[in-house]
Formats: sequence, structure tokens, C-alpha cells
Amino acid sequence: GRVVVLFGGDSAEREVSLKSGAAVLAALERAGLDVMGYDPAGGGLAGLEALNPDRAFIALHGRGGEDGALQGALELLRIPYTGSGVLASALGMDKQRTKQVWQAVGLPTPEAVMLAADSNWDEVIASLGLPLIVKPVHEGSTLGISIVECRASLEAAYRDAARYDARVMAERFIVGEEYTVSLLGDRVLPAIRVEVPGGFYDYDAKYISNDTLYHLPCGLDARAEAELGELCREAFEAIGGEGWGRVDVMRDAGGRFWLIEVNTSPGMTDHSLVPQAAAHVGIDFDTLVLCILGTTLE
Ligand code: DAL
Ligand code: MG
Repeated sequence: GRVVVLFGGDSAEREVSLKSGAAVLAALERAGLDVMGYDPAGGGLAGLEALNPDRAFIALHGRGGEDGALQGALELLRIPYTGSGVLASALGMDKQRTKQVWQAVGLPTPEAVMLAADSNWDEVIASLGLPLIVKPVHEGSTLGISIVECRASLEAAYRDAARYDARVMAERFIVGEEYTVSLLGDRVLPAIRVEVPGGFYDYDAKYISNDTLYHLPCGLDARAEAELGELCREAFEAIGGEGWGRVDVMRDAGGRFWLIEVNTSPGMTDHSLVPQAAAHVGIDFDTLVLCILGTTLE
């Protein structure tokens, strides 16, 4: 049957999605499938329905593609799709409610508070300490995120995040190492430690810079890596994640892991993390794409 690769979209992560989608489309073409690309920002649902696809590969990131809205539309159109369903997609896009689910099931995640234009900034700092991190609740690729080191920069960080989202949160910043764990079907792929010399893993470090270091193997001993993998599997299951995804984690100086967020439609660009983790266990990019497509049949 025909496969449609959905990419582009109109979220702030559109440029990332164009790259993910082009890579996925090329892989499915090399596999000899009847495949076409479709940008929902260009033609909405009517154009998609007219293509009459048998399955959809979602290579959209951010709002409108990763947040359950499109997944709901595909359900109504009866088009099977890759990855998580409506609920997990919507939860995964909401960093605050993801955190509340994790807290409810006893999984470790840094405390956070919601911010507003009239927040009492001193109280925020008293409850979370410094540094803290300010984030739009529904955004990806680190857009609108700042690390706040001092009281004076908190309000500006809030205003920057508020350009992306009406809901903004401040979270205790875990000083330590950053890890990410990719989940593929029932498999937990090897963890990657991400290191940005002199900086923070922001949009530029993710997609533009070539200085970002991806440590794979990640450098943890086998017991700690197994603990991390199990934590991420539980975190993904707690929100009802399906098919594939990626969980981002910080490790503090004492070796404790803290869940940061889940991505239900992770990047598939040439700088992206899931393809690197898969390659490390012998799953090349084309095989990975077919494997993710296969999850639409489950
Ligand atoms: N939100 C980006 C695409 C990622 O998590 O890979
Ligand atoms: Mg994300």
C-alpha cells in the first residue's frame, strides 16, 4: 500500500521537520515503497485524504503534528500512523503535565512552577533555587528556553519563553550531565551523553553546530546505564507512549537521574539522536525507518 510521510507543518520546529521528513522519505524510496511526502501546512486534511494513503509516517515535530491533534485526525480518517496515539502525543507535548504524571507514579523529575507576567520572581527563586531553567510548556528543540543564573534575568527569560507559548514554566536546573535514551518498539537503545563544550544543548547545538559531542557508548557503567534505560522505559510507559520515542534525562553530581521530557516524534535529521543510537546497535537509518513504519501495524 501507499505510505505518506507527513512533514513540514507550521510549528516553530518546521525547519527541523523538513529535514527529518526528507531523510525518512528518501529511506522509504530506497526501500522501493510507494511513498509520497505531504505537508499539512500546505493542504490541510482534504489534500491528505485525497492521496488515499494506507499508512502515515509522522515526521512532524511540535504543535499540530506531535501533540495529538493530527493523530486524532488520522484516527478519524482511519489511516494507521507511526508512534504514539492521541493521549501520549498530547501529554508528551506538555512538559508540565508530563511532569505531573511522572510525579504521580513516583518517577524522579525536577520540581517546577508555572510562571505568569505577574509572578513573584523572588518566590520563584526561593522555591526552586538558582540556576533554574525557564521553558515554554509546549515547545521542542529548546526554542524559547533559557537557563537563569541570577534574579535579574528571570523576568526577561519569562518574556522570551512567552513569545512561544501562553504557558511557561520554571524548573529547577540540574547541574550535571545530559543523557538521552531512544525507545524503539520493545527495545531500549543505548543511552547517548550529549556534551556541548562551553555551552548548553540549545537549537544551535542541536542542528547547526558541529562542536556538539555525542558520547556513545555514554560512559556510564553497565549498572547505571541499565538503571537509566529502565527509568526511561517506565517514563515513556507512564504517559502511554507507543511505537518509538526519546526521553531526555539529566544526571546530577551525585549520580541521580532526573527525567526532563519525552519526545513522541523525535528528530530524524542527520544530527539527530535516535538514528545515532540505532546505528550503534547495527540498525542503519533505512532499517530504522522501516522498523518505525512497522509499528503502524501493531
Ligand atoms: N523535538 C526534536 C525534533 C527532537 O526531540 O528530536
Ligand atoms: Mg522535545
